Amino acid sequence: DGDVFKYYADGEWKKSNSGKSVPIVNPTTRRTHYKVQACSQEEVNKVMEAAKAAQKLWAKTPLWKRAELLHKAAAILKEHKAPIAECLVKEIAKPAKDAVTEVIRSGDLVSYCAEEGVRILGEGKFLVSDSFPGNERTKYCLTSKIPLGVVLAIPPFNYPVNLAVSKIAPALIAGNSLVLKPPTQGAVAALHMVHCFHLAGFPKGLISCVTGKGSEIGDFLTMHPAVNCISFTGGDTGISISKKAGMIPLQMELGGKDACIVLEDADLDLVAANIIKGGFSYSGQRCTAVKVVLVMESVADSLVEKVKAKVVKLTVGPPEESCDITPVVSESSANFIEGLVMDAKQKGATFCQEYRREGNLIWPLLLDNVRPDMRIAWEEPFGPVLPVIRIGSVEEGIHHCNASNFGLQGCVFTKDINKAMLISDAMETGTVQINSAPARGPDHFPFQGFKDSGIGSQGVTNSINMMTKVKSTVINLP
Ligand code: G3P
Repeated sequence: DGDVFKYYADGEWKKSNSGKSVPIVNPTTRRTHYKVQACSQEEVNKVMEAAKAAQKLWAKTPLWKRAELLHKAAAILKEHKAPIAECLVKEIAKPAKDAVTEVIRSGDLVSYCAEEGVRILGEGKFLVSDSFPGNERTKYCLTSKIPLGVVLAIPPFNYPVNLAVSKIAPALIAGNSLVLKPPTQGAVAALHMVHCFHLAGFPKGLISCVTGKGSEIGDFLTMHPAVNCISFTGGDTGISISKKAGMIPLQMELGGKDACIVLEDADLDLVAANIIKGGFSYSGQRCTAVKVVLVMESVADSLVEKVKAKVVKLTVGPPEESCDITPVVSESSANFIEGLVMDAKQKGATFCQEYRREGNLIWPLLLDNVRPDMRIAWEEPFGPVLPVIRIGSVEEGIHHCNASNFGLQGCVFTKDINKAMLISDAMETGTVQINSAPARGPDHFPFQGFKDSGIGSQGVTNSINMMTKVKSTVINLP
């Protein structure tokens, strides 16, 4: 039936034999907006077979040709920004303006990957044996980076396009084939993005996109013997994937509880602006969102006033109108956020605004005087609710940051660069931003989480390297 979007395998759009579909509920209307195929395990097997076969030929395709195709896909992706952004608006309630930005950023990422790939994969190493004790110069070692095979990419709902291409492009330039399992919310945007790669003319079977229920094909995909690498972005599921996956490289970016440490000498207007951007853009549904403000008591009143003044100005409403705050992705997510808010209320947090919710739409909320016994001090709401903890010393702030099970990013605001560097060294997070909110981009920067926030490092260069293995050939002289 024409209502259900087809999945992509073997260079073709297909209906699943399961006869089943998965509904995609529009977070704004809370009604089914699209449907995608519920692929079966048997179909996953076929996709894996095709991916294995296509990869063998692709690995022999000249690097410059791989790059050329990626550049073509990037251009087509940018041309299709309007319809893809439209899907993002309907599937994940991303503000229309940000939805377009996501697609453009994705095109740029694909091009950058192609350029970076031809450089870093275009050179290998040459070593001689006599640098190691006891050896004469009788051995020459040549190394190069070769593909891993089949890469499985699992992006999350919050960037179904960008966090898909950030896995697809490095995999392809490095000579791998790619199987994409998009998130349910965002699956149609992802299918449309895959269509752009289809139009660019990649070989059949090299890229596939299987949709379906996690319960049916999730473990089956991640434990599939044909998979040689998994790149995953999302929540706790990543931890269970890492326990079940085989002996293959894993790249994972999971949750975060990014702290914003504010010192007494900080430029409070700059801090307030960054708290708004960092805490409330896409309604707080970013792994890198500011998720707890740790501010020195002496400047806390003043900072809270400044942030409050800006919260009032945030527009709240439908994503079609590019409102700042839009409905969160699902009812269960909204309920979870509400649970955190009620817990904070019961334990005596100061509500800087009244709590308000209509359906999945939650009004932005700043909670002051949050204490460590409140859940919101530690858990990530993935919504427009931001706790402020007042601290008596910088050490207290660092301690709170490091006591978290997460370690994605953090930020520190001060005019004293020496202090900032020392604090950065002390924070157990993959990245520390000095005088700006946490963010993954620019997309070629290394991006990694410590502790439960993930393993491996992303960013264009690191992802390309991660999706290759080193191969050596040693020439032995007589
Ligand atoms: O939430 C996913 C993470 O990758 C965030 O990216 O660009 O919003 O910092 P960004």
